[in-house]
Amino acid sequence: MKKLTRVLMLILAITVLLGACSRKSGAFTVEEGVLTMVTNAEFPPYEFWDDSKIVGIDAEIAAAIAENLGLTLRIDDIAFDAIIPSVTGGRADMGMAGMTVTDERKKNVNFSESYAKGVQVIIVRDGSVITSNEDLFAEGANFNIGVQESTTGDLYATEELADEGLATMFRYRRGVDAVQDLVNGRIDCVIIDNEPAKAFVAMYSGLKILETAYAEEDYAIAFSKKNPALRDAVNKALAELIADGTVQSIIDKYINID
Ligand code: ARG
Repeated sequence: MKKLTRVLMLILAITVLLGACSRKSGAFTVEEGVLTMVTNAEFPPYEFWDDSKIVGIDAEIAAAIAENLGLTLRIDDIAFDAIIPSVTGGRADMGMAGMTVTDERKKNVNFSESYAKGVQVIIVRDGSVITSNEDLFAEGANFNIGVQESTTGDLYATEELADEGLATMFRYRRGVDAVQDLVNGRIDCVIIDNEPAKAFVAMYSGLKILETAYAEEDYAIAFSKKNPALRDAVNKALAELIADGTVQSIIDKYINID
């Protein structure tokens, strides 16, 4: 009897201990039962406003992830450069915004597995003297380059062109504002991700996307380094949604493969 009590107490102790451990390593969310995503909804077809709703590839993939995890999705629209601070500051659970994985960003956040590829392209006016990527790097070049502030287009062009004295940067809060200034003639080109580029070019006449790409990249979801279990849980959900074709069908819905 004494032995039995001891065994029972041991089992109890182990159970309590395991419970504490699993809670400790378990994923948590800023608000219980809610998956809070921050994005910058100025980036069709990944995230954009449709009437009073944020829609797009990221919004739908996030909704599928939330459902898989038994959470309710909430999406907040903020400035692109506020996304990582919001995640690291514990105000949001994840940042999903067609965001490119970079070494610099990896210092601040954990990224999920990649769920899409992006390409930085160059938009010019029809008949522009800029006909390829190389024209931007030519000796004596000094074009006015438009980008969305703090995006990889901004980071690359600033480092490789402006800092080398080969260009002047024009940074905008929204990609579409840069495109507008390209139409107006204030700038010579816009460097931005390929799918938004297609969407913006379709909104105006007289613009085209150069065939030579500027850079290729991977899109992933950003998480706080303090919550690795949430990243792991989302990775698991994402793998399931990729395997069962959900992710591809969402992408196909927004991107016409021609
Ligand atoms: N892929 C680029 C980057 O990570 C641009 C992303 C812009 N996304 C947005 N939702 N505005 O820097």
